[in-house]
Amino acid sequence: MTRSIAWQDGAITAVDQCALPHEYRMLRLSTVDEVIDAIQRLAIRGAPAIGVAGALAVALSARAHTRDGVCDEIAVRAEARRIADARPTAVNLSWAVRRVLGKLDGGADAVLAEAGTILVEDEERNRAAAGEAANLVRRLCGPEPLRLLTHCNTGRLATVAWGTALGAIRLLAGEGHVTEVLFGETRPLLQGARLTAWELAEAGIPHRMLVDSAGPAALAAGMVDCVLVGADRVCANGDVANKIGTYSLALAASRAGVPFVVVAPESTLDTTLRSGADIVIEERSPAEVTAFGGVEVAPPGTRVFNPAFDVTPAELVTAVVTESGLFRPNGTVEERAS
Ligand code: MRU
Repeated sequence: MTRSIAWQDGAITAVDQCALPHEYRMLRLSTVDEVIDAIQRLAIRGAPAIGVAGALAVALSARAHTRDGVCDEIAVRAEARRIADARPTAVNLSWAVRRVLGKLDGGADAVLAEAGTILVEDEERNRAAAGEAANLVRRLCGPEPLRLLTHCNTGRLATVAWGTALGAIRLLAGEGHVTEVLFGETRPLLQGARLTAWELAEAGIPHRMLVDSAGPAALAAGMVDCVLVGADRVCANGDVANKIGTYSLALAASRAGVPFVVVAPESTLDTTLRSGADIVIEERSPAEVTAFGGVEVAPPGTRVFNPAFDVTPAELVTAVVTESGLFRPNGTVEERAS
């Protein structure tokens, strides 16, 4: 499967997620500022993808600050802080930056090699997590063809390749286990409408889009057998931060008795945080909400609350599935899901 992000000839190449679905084109990013900008405007987005981009950006920095074989570690660490802070909620970003900084005393080549390892592992681990999740869904829901509900975009675009929740859906569909995938448009930046619809069409999986507020209604109406979503950060107690709108789906799934499964690599676990109350939730510009398709829709001066993520409490989550198995709310991965 084509990778959505890679290192090529001294620069980062990445699918421009702002251009989809109208155009599939690659960005070429050769400075730290370009990478930070791409992450902040969501041209590169999705927790695993921004982690990999962050790691590669530190490699760009280390190369730029190496003279006569000597790397200016102070300068690189300062840029690494800016990279890690580009978006606050997905822990993958600071995790990946920290991991490559651990190789800084080996110089720019060592940093780049570690970033390359993170990239390769991302594909392998998400594929494994998706496999674990697919097995769990079959166990929870039985052999009948399934109607699944997902939110935001957790596919190959949001990761190096394959995806997490959408990766599990891809596997289940490949085995003929899926009759339909419902997904929310994902206001306000339309990751569902623009990206998930594009990926499901690309994979030939039957799908229907909902406005976000119709997700709970679909669950209440018995239209869904299982909800599968990704995560941006999972705390020690099992609370899950994910795209805004996830919490209302979890509430409705719980009320309807429908399994609610979170699929994420271990790089999304943050056992340093006890609960979701400790997660910094990114708030984005009011302009994302007051305008639609470039047209102002709210009266001038309308005040806005625009959180990019919400927190779903652990008690509403049937399972958090990683590449190693089920994550238990005491902060350990204890058993394999399959
Ligand atoms: O703001 P985004 O588009 O980066 O938010 C992405 C999500 O919330 C995804 O569900 C999450 O990062 C998991 S992606 C495998």
